[in-house]
Amino acid sequence: MIDKPGGPGVLAWQEVPDPVPGPGDVLIDVAASAVNRADVMQRQGLYDPPPGAPPYPGLECSGVVAEVGSDVEDFKPGDRVCALLAGGGYAEKVAVPWQQVMPVPDGVDLVEAAALPEVACTVWSNVFMIGRLRKGETLLVHGGASGIGTMAIQLAKAFGSRVVVTAGSAEKIARCLDLGADEGIDYHKEDFAEKVQADVILDIIGGKYLQGNVKALKTGGRLVVIGLQGGSKGELNLGALLAKRASVHGTTLRGRPVDEKGVIVRGVVENVWPLVAAGAIRPVIYARVPMSDAAEAHKIMESGDHIGKILLVG
Ligand SMILES: NC(=O)c1ccc[n+]([C@@H]2O[C@H](COP(=O)([O-])OP(=O)(O)OC[C@H]3O[C@@H](n4cnc5c(N)ncnc54)[C@H](OP(=O)(O)O)[C@@H]3O)[C@@H](O)[C@H]2O)c1
Repeated sequence: MIDKPGGPGVLAWQEVPDPVPGPGDVLIDVAASAVNRADVMQRQGLYDPPPGAPPYPGLECSGVVAEVGSDVEDFKPGDRVCALLAGGGYAEKVAVPWQQVMPVPDGVDLVEAAALPEVACTVWSNVFMIGRLRKGETLLVHGGASGIGTMAIQLAKAFGSRVVVTAGSAEKIARCLDLGADEGIDYHKEDFAEKVQADVILDIIGGKYLQGNVKALKTGGRLVVIGLQGGSKGELNLGALLAKRASVHGTTLRGRPVDEKGVIVRGVVENVWPLVAAGAIRPVIYARVPMSDAAEAHKIMESGDHIGKILLVG
C-alpha cells in the first residue's frame, strides 16, 4: 500500500480486504508479481491508477486460479495462470477480467511467469501490432537492457528481424548481444542517429530522443513512443516525417479498455507463448525479492543496475 507519495520506504505491506471477483473476473492466488517503471512513478505520485483499479501497485502477476465469476468459461480453479493487471499485483490475491488472463507458457515455472505479461503484451502490441515489424526489417530498441528491451530483442529476433539496441554501459550491451541483438550503441559515447537506420523504433525516452529518432527512421519507418523518461516535449520536424512517409505513434497499455487488452493478450498467447515454450524466448530475471519487501525491489530498479525484470515473490 502507498499511504503517501515518496521514496521506496513509503511502500508498506498491509492487511487489505480480499478482492471480490465480479461475474467476468478470475480471482488469482498470487505466486509472484514483478516491478515495472510505472510502479515507481505511481509510488512517487506521478501516475495514478486508472478508475476501478486497486490503489496499490502491480501491473502483472502469476498464480493459481482460486475462483471464477459466473460468466467465465476459459479458466477454472486450480489453473496455473499469469495476468496483465491495471494494478493491485503486489498482493496475495487479485481479481482480474478473464480477458487479461493467460495460461503459464509451457516450460516456465509459476514464479518466473510473473516476469512475462507486461513485457510480452507491451512488445507485441507496440512492435508488431502498431509497428508492424516484418522479417528482415531493422528494429531499434532504446534501453535494450530494460525489462521491455530484453523481451523486444528476443521477440524481434525470433521473428527474423535485425535488432539494434541502445544502452548505458558495456556490460548492458554485452547482455543484449547475448540475448540476440545484432548491434549495441552506448548512448553515453555515441549518437544513435548517426549509426542506425531503422524500420521500427521502440522508444522509452520521448522528447529528448524525438529528433534523433526521426533522423534514424528509414523511409516508411514507424516510431512508437511508449515512455517519456527524457520528457514529454520535443520538436518534431514534419518535413522530415513527410519526406520519409514515416509515422509517430504514442501508446499506453494500462488505461486501455478490457476488450482492447483482451485482443493483445490473445495475440500474445497465439504468437509469443509458442516461442517461449520452444525456448526461443526466456524470462530475463535480475532479482527475486520477497513481496513484503517491495521497497527493496524499487531501490534496485531506481539504482538502474538491473538487466531485465525484478520479481516480487509472494
Ligand atoms: N506505454 C506503455 O504501455 C508502457 C508499458 C510498459 C513499459 N513502458 C515504459 O517502458 C520503459 C521501460 O520500462 P521497464 O519497466 O522495462 O523499466 P526498466 O527496466 O527500469 O528500464 C528503464 C531503462 O531505461 C534505460 N535508459 C535510461 N536512459 C536512457 C537513454 N538516454 N537511452 C536509452 N536508454 C535509457 C535504462 O538503461 P541504461 O542503464 O542502459 O540507461 C533502463 O534499462 C519505461 O519508460 C516504461 O514507462 C511503457
